Amino acid sequence: MLKFTKQQVVAEYLPDTVSPQSMKTFSFAPSNIALCKYWGKRDAELNLPINSSLSVSLAHLGSKTRILLSDTEQDQVVLNDELLAADNSFAVKVIAFIDMFRRGADHKVRVETENNIPTAAGLASSASGFAALMQAVNEFYRLELDLSLQSAFARMGSGSASRSLFTGFVEWQMGQREDGMDSIAAPLAAQWPELRIGLIKVSTAQKPVDSRSGMNRTVATAHLYQSWPMQAAADLSQLHTAIETQDFKLLGQTAEQNALSMHATMIASWPPLLYWQADSVTAMHKIWQLRAEGLSLYFTMDAGPNLKVLFNTADEAEICKQFPDMQVITPFGNQ
Ligand code: DP6
Repeated sequence: MLKFTKQQVVAEYLPDTVSPQSMKTFSFAPSNIALCKYWGKRDAELNLPINSSLSVSLAHLGSKTRILLSDTEQDQVVLNDELLAADNSFAVKVIAFIDMFRRGADHKVRVETENNIPTAAGLASSASGFAALMQAVNEFYRLELDLSLQSAFARMGSGSASRSLFTGFVEWQMGQREDGMDSIAAPLAAQWPELRIGLIKVSTAQKPVDSRSGMNRTVATAHLYQSWPMQAAADLSQLHTAIETQDFKLLGQTAEQNALSMHATMIASWPPLLYWQADSVTAMHKIWQLRAEGLSLYFTMDAGPNLKVLFNTADEAEICKQFPDMQVITPFGNQ
């Protein structure tokens, strides 16, 4: 049974009437990679998570969005310069998000979004997409919402978007309230300038089961999922220690174990969910082998076949030699 609808929650924070104004520039939000994953919802309408999570932002990789007033008969959503059909699933979600703020006002919009990361390839484009859309909505409707409120509302578009309003390390507190207004993300003060993230692209094809369906299936069918909230809580606390003490081994080990534990719950679902491809497993073995040989690198994976490799700048040259096609991101540096 629905406790609160999105519209009910958002309406509390909006002015009675909105005054939209076409944006001249784009809003940008970075993508993020979770080191302690969000997997499982306690409320599917509001995207309230079963566990708290912690991520690191991907600097210049992300989404930019602007909203224009349109004199067309229908709303328009343009993704990477391509006008989407009205029934395209991304376009439907974007317009549903706008409707939370438009609240029946009589105007049409044209939403323009550009991603510089492969869409739906496990590189978290929905996170940056809804965070950039939230910022754009805030400007277009001149709402002047603070970042905490924007984080809570972006979460309703996609859970991981709550973390993409910020840069660096970001923690999304699961919260307790039924309206979810304490389920928001905030950045950690700590920086880690030496930290690098390498993207190993196994496939950029659209994934067959999206995160939303994947996590719902896991919660509904995997007995193994019962241990997940405990695992996530323990990992979150380890990550805090690792970040405070700049202990790279603890950071990497915790992130890798957290990702594999999440994937274990997916595999234990029915029908089974295995996002890995043969090349994903080959890359995992290569990482374990290099680690056995003394290199300090760890991986994490989301609901897709691609790997994100964690390492420090000291090992960068050697690791790049081993993975020549890997794209390297400096989360805390100027790009
Ligand atoms: C594996 O935020 O995409 O990347 O809330 O249903 O939109 P919805 O799911 P989404 O799930 C992300 C899952 C994950 C882990 C994470 O980013 O924390």
